Amino acid sequence: MAKEIRIGLVGYGFMGRTHSNGYKRVGDFFPELQSRPVLQAVCGRTEDKTKAFAEQWGYKSYETDWRKLIARDDIDAVDICTPNDQHAEVAIAAAQAGKMVLCEKPLARTTQESLPMVEAVEKAGVPNTVWYNYRRVPAVTLAKQIIESGKLGKIFHYRANFLQDWTINAELPQGGAALWRLDAAAAGSGVTGDLLAHCIDTAIWLNGSITDVSAVTETFVKERMHTLTGKVEKVGIDDACIFHCHFANGSLGLFESTRYARGHKALYTFEINGEHASIRWDLHDLNRLEYFDHSDESIVRGWRSVHITDGDQPYMKHWWVPGLSIGYEHTFVHQVADFLRSLEQGAPCPPTFRDALETARVCDAVLKSAAERSWQNV
Ligand SMILES: NC(=O)c1ccc[n+]([C@@H]2O[C@H](COP(=O)([O-])OP(=O)(O)OC[C@H]3O[C@@H](n4cnc5c(N)ncnc54)[C@H](O)[C@@H]3O)[C@@H](O)[C@H]2O)c1
Repeated sequence: MAKEIRIGLVGYGFMGRTHSNGYKRVGDFFPELQSRPVLQAVCGRTEDKTKAFAEQWGYKSYETDWRKLIARDDIDAVDICTPNDQHAEVAIAAAQAGKMVLCEKPLARTTQESLPMVEAVEKAGVPNTVWYNYRRVPAVTLAKQIIESGKLGKIFHYRANFLQDWTINAELPQGGAALWRLDAAAAGSGVTGDLLAHCIDTAIWLNGSITDVSAVTETFVKERMHTLTGKVEKVGIDDACIFHCHFANGSLGLFESTRYARGHKALYTFEINGEHASIRWDLHDLNRLEYFDHSDESIVRGWRSVHITDGDQPYMKHWWVPGLSIGYEHTFVHQVADFLRSLEQGAPCPPTFRDALETARVCDAVLKSAAERSWQNV
């Protein structure tokens, strides 16, 4: 009989749905796991909407106050899917109540706000993880394995982009339900904490620590109507950010993110150039890994486009047959599976809160560098 991990989900928007899907599907596709998540309760602020979500997704109960959810003794793990300003208070209270904590990224709005979260989970000794889910795209996990095997040799360059185009319209308001990402008070920052945080997490995982950064940011639309106040207010987020950096292994990094790249919806790409080989990946074609190996015979040497669907490639033996793809939602199923496995093994499930603190530090250094027009150590 599998051990039940009773989940209390806080926030039922975009991420609330991806996580719920992960909890529901993991047992069918990872039957070897000794524990299984139970959709025990969902928490939202509006009763009718929260109740409707609970009924649609199969949660056994619902709450309209996260404090009540945390106080319940039939909840083992609290999963935080609220806007960034709502992470710290919930995570710290959940850890103090002895609950496992799964938190959406970024950990919080700043390093200063993130640090007590790390201290709280470590003091309570509760399992914790942060949903930097792109690590669990099979092609990205394979990139990690290839790098660790030493096939790339010495790494010289790491480059990443995360480009979108949904905030170009100056009439778009800031703040409130769907637009909290444009409100610095709720989000903490703009593309740096939202999109570059993903790129930084992957980069640190694949290529090690970032030591110092030099950045430029821009806010193209300086004022927007605020949904909550009804007034036109200064925009406090970065609409675009470009930074370059040094990694501890001696390689150079180049990162760009914007929500003003007309034509791009979620173009997350990275490329790593090593002495012997290079790798590149593109979220829009997430099951492919492009690979160039200089040791190939010269007459056929070139970039290979490897379709990551085979059973010996990461995670894929759990899904269909070779040649058939999986998608974005599977990364969340993988994170649930890895979290449950980590519980069985008594091991951390990376990225932990402490791992995510390193990304927060890089984000803070990037924003400080842009504000002060100077290099910043991380
Ligand atoms: N891992 C990823 O790829 C990824 C993608 C998108 C968002 N995120 C992160 O997930 C988090 C949520 O983003 P989203 O896109 O799901 O946002 P969303 O706006 O779709 O959903 C947020 C939910 O939180 C609820 N909420 C807000 N305050 C609350 C409170 N005090 N108590 C209970 N519920 C509350 C809202 O009503 C809403 O249901 C953010 O931190 C974001 O950065 C991560």
